[in-house]
Amino acid sequence: MKRLIAIVVCCWAGVALASSGGSALHPAGNSLSDTASLQRGARTFVNYCLSCHSAQYMRYNRMAEDLGLTEDMVVDNMLFTDKKVGDTMTVAMRGSDASQWFGNAPPDLSVVARARGTDWLYSFLTGFYADPKKPTGVNNIIFADTAMPHVLWELQGVQKMVTRFEETEEGEEHEVFDHFELATPGIQSELEYQRTVRDLVNFLEYMGEPAKLKRYHIGMWVLVYLVIFTLAAYLLKKEFWRDVH
Ligand code: HEC
Repeated sequence: MKRLIAIVVCCWAGVALASSGGSALHPAGNSLSDTASLQRGARTFVNYCLSCHSAQYMRYNRMAEDLGLTEDMVVDNMLFTDKKVGDTMTVAMRGSDASQWFGNAPPDLSVVARARGTDWLYSFLTGFYADPKKPTGVNNIIFADTAMPHVLWELQGVQKMVTRFEETEEGEEHEVFDHFELATPGIQSELEYQRTVRDLVNFLEYMGEPAKLKRYHIGMWVLVYLVIFTLAAYLLKKEFWRDVH
């Protein structure tokens, strides 16, 4: 028992250390069971991301079915080119053109949430700031020198990085990130923009594993079944042993 407690304490300390270690990731706080959020995220994705990034494993009609959208809603709000609802989400831009324009080709985003994690995505999409030295005019706190422009600037506005000086152990001063300040406001307030990004990250997580939604749903019924079954087993046991005692 003592050993068990020791192991649990060690693991806990490890987790605490890992989460306090240097990285400035903000928790995305998204929830796959929030269908309205997934629908808003899908809309933002199609409107703002699909022009450069593809999601080649996702079909429009699969998305419609999973997120409770009718095909008409998808056709009216999400299909901008000559695409059909049974098509996958690919882009017209050629990879070689994209590399030439941006320096790096925009990667396919189908499974980016699994590769990077939702907190990384949330921090990336809220982490653009003005940097006149960059060709896109912006830089990113999570993904330094990224070739991606701040495509949501209209919504968020443009934020400025505010730094402060910190002394190292050797007594040298160096500049570190302190906080962001909104230099030019966008259409959305800070809270609204955070929600937009949370919804978008939610959609990206769904896209990384669309079957997850179904699994959660089935999981609920399995739990209900187990509860009912446990109750039945208990009553049966009571019935069997009634005459013995
Ligand atoms: C104008 C084109 C363009 C648009 C629109 C765009 N991106 Fe990008 N994105 C890029 C490029 C280029 C890169 C590659 C950056 C690099 O490697 O330096 C990138 C990289 C990324 C990455 C990092 C992928 C990785 O793991 O390295 C993520 C995540 C991402 N984009 C998400 C989005 C989302 C979400 C949207 C919609 C809100 C979006 N992008 C819209 C051009 C674009």
